[in-house]
Amino acid sequence: MKKCILSAKGISKSFVHNGRQTHILSHIDLDLYEGDFTVIMGASGSGKSTLLYALSGMDKATAGQVLYHEKDLVSMREKELTRLRCTDFGFIFQQMHLVSNLSLFENVAVSGYLNKKKTASEIKQKAEELLDKMNAAHVKNHLPSQVSGGEQQRCAIARAVINMPRMLFADEPTGSVELVQHYPKEIPVILFSLSILISLITDRHNVRFSSRVSVS
Ligand SMILES: Nc1ncnc2c1ncn2[C@@H]1O[C@H](COP(=O)(O)OP(=O)(O)OP(=O)(O)O)[C@@H](O)[C@H]1O
Ligand SMILES: [Mg+2]
Repeated sequence: MKKCILSAKGISKSFVHNGRQTHILSHIDLDLYEGDFTVIMGASGSGKSTLLYALSGMDKATAGQVLYHEKDLVSMREKELTRLRCTDFGFIFQQMHLVSNLSLFENVAVSGYLNKKKTASEIKQKAEELLDKMNAAHVKNHLPSQVSGGEQQRCAIARAVINMPRMLFADEPTGSVELVQHYPKEIPVILFSLSILISLITDRHNVRFSSRVSVS
């Protein structure tokens, strides 16, 4: 039987804007299992990014628990959460968030250095390898502003997987890249070599790679 490694129990999230409270997530229960590739689909503005931030400890849910290996991310101290995000989680952000004054290669390698588990030469080699797999080797020394949106996104994917995270949170990872058209082999190979992928998308094409699909 597959092991559940992340379990959301009754999570809710609301924001206060201009003195008014808006409820975005309401009492969500969700179990994510080892080896699964889970896709959550929803219309723009339905709360996918908010859910991803809450599940990954990037932001705190207003209520409920997010248990990762039985530990609650909602009540976890920031220092411990930061460590967990470096060691166990990988992120592909909707807005990519590449560091603007670092080359694509450096953006990928920095993530490896933060993890502190490999030597500098191992990290460099892995970063080169991943950028090559992502078909971005030819622009590895360019700054993010000097490459296309798709190239930035492929770099962001390489950065997210360099530490072989136990969970990969991907927020519209193919917004600038048509995954099925351009990467029929490489990306699924990389993603399936990870233990878990949770991907939040609005694009139905990519659902073919998932083992479970929820439509909100
Ligand atoms: N910090 C915030 N303060 C106030 N409202 C917010 C905040 N962050 C998100 N929201 C609101 O929460 C709702 C859900 O936003 P979210 O970014 O999670 O949607 P989404 O499903 O990811 O949309 P998209 O597909 O366009 O990326 C939106 O109406 C948004 O305006
Ligand atoms: Mg979003």
